[in-house]
Amino acid sequence: MLSTLLIALLALNGLILGMCLFLLGARHWLASYGQVKIRLNDEKDLQVQGGNSLLLTLVGSKIFIPSACGGRGTCGYCRVKVLDGGGSVLATEQMILTPAEIKEKKRLACQVRVRRDLVVHVPEEFLAIKEFQTVVSKVEVMTDVIKKITFKLLEPKTIAFKPGQYVQVSLIRPGEDPIYRGYSIASSPFAHDIIELNVRRVENGIMSNHLHTLKEGDPMVLSGPYGEFFLQETTNRSVVCIAGGVGLAPMKSIIAYMTEKKIDRKVYLFYGARTLPLLYDHQEFVEAARRNPKFQYVPALSDENIGGDWDGHRGFITKVFQQVFPDGEPAEAYLCGPPVMIDALLPLLAAKGIQSKDIYYDKF
Ligand SMILES: Cc1cc2nc3c(=O)[nH]c(=O)nc-3n(C[C@H](O)[C@H](O)[C@H](O)COP(=O)(O)OP(=O)(O)OC[C@H]3O[C@@H](n4cnc5c(N)ncnc54)[C@H](O)[C@@H]3O)c2cc1C
Ligand code: FES
Repeated sequence: MLSTLLIALLALNGLILGMCLFLLGARHWLASYGQVKIRLNDEKDLQVQGGNSLLLTLVGSKIFIPSACGGRGTCGYCRVKVLDGGGSVLATEQMILTPAEIKEKKRLACQVRVRRDLVVHVPEEFLAIKEFQTVVSKVEVMTDVIKKITFKLLEPKTIAFKPGQYVQVSLIRPGEDPIYRGYSIASSPFAHDIIELNVRRVENGIMSNHLHTLKEGDPMVLSGPYGEFFLQETTNRSVVCIAGGVGLAPMKSIIAYMTEKKIDRKVYLFYGARTLPLLYDHQEFVEAARRNPKFQYVPALSDENIGGDWDGHRGFITKVFQQVFPDGEPAEAYLCGPPVMIDALLPLLAAKGIQSKDIYYDKF
């Protein structure tokens, strides 16, 4: 009886072991696709190793695709056209792409696996995005969660970008896929050889915590510039910047650029945070508003427990904007901050007469 039980147990173990070996073998076989060819923009062929996402494969060939969500399939920034070889559109893509986009063969590069030869079209502007070898030249602690980090560009030595655009920071960890996150450029486009980023440390966040460990002299790889969020220079309307937290970063770049280029337009900066320390760079803007009568600085603190020392606005920046900004003033709006702030602002801007085509935003 005991020996029958033992034999049955051994047979069961053998079966499980056999299944494991089969699954491992199948996984290895499925994962090794060998070399495949990507025909890019009808111009050139890339010979690449199959098996990875199209996004990582293109980045590996130095074709930089925006990927603000780090390849999770949620931001939609990595849209490219896959004319052949992409397989079926995944459910994750159907949540982001419109039926019209799917019809014209748009795909999310982070969701498409490179398994066989592909024919791909990427927007021309992506081809101008470069990779920069940099070194940290300055780290400033603004609060326990916000640091300003300045990178000196080593190779190439200079960057051209529009105020409001962002760069992607990459982090390579042994044995894992590289990760990428977007950070708005806070420095002026006239400072060609540096990039300042303002980074808020997110609890358990991989990249923001890594960036917070950087010190002077540390190397870092950035790519850019990315994004459709930048100052429009074809009109004379007022520029309304509304920022929450580190959403201030691109506004700093816009305002510095306008000042240095002596652009004679009215500028509003509505800037909201919970407490005064989180309203970093507050004093700089107070002084800038004193020097320039065309610059109106409207800070607001939302924490209910702030004491009597604060003589500025109290409450959410959305409410303050609604109270302060004049109705009907010809303007375009630049918004940057948490999604909830931006969603709340859109109807308020419309009520002030600012058309949706004149509203630009980055949510993060
Ligand atoms: C265009 C663009 C510009 C950006 N500019 C800046 C910038 O100038 N400064 C800046 O600090 N960040 C900026 N971000 C956000 C940045 O790209 C990262 O998303 C952020 O730093 C978190 O990355 P992580 O790797 O640290 O966290 P992850 O490892 O990606 O996330 C860890 C956990 O935190 C959660 N989480 C992720 N992001 C947030 C968040 N923002 N708040 C709360 N919880 C979160 C996730 O759901 C997850 O549970 C920008 C994003 C975009 C799309
Ligand atoms: S990288 Fe965000 S959807 Fe693909």
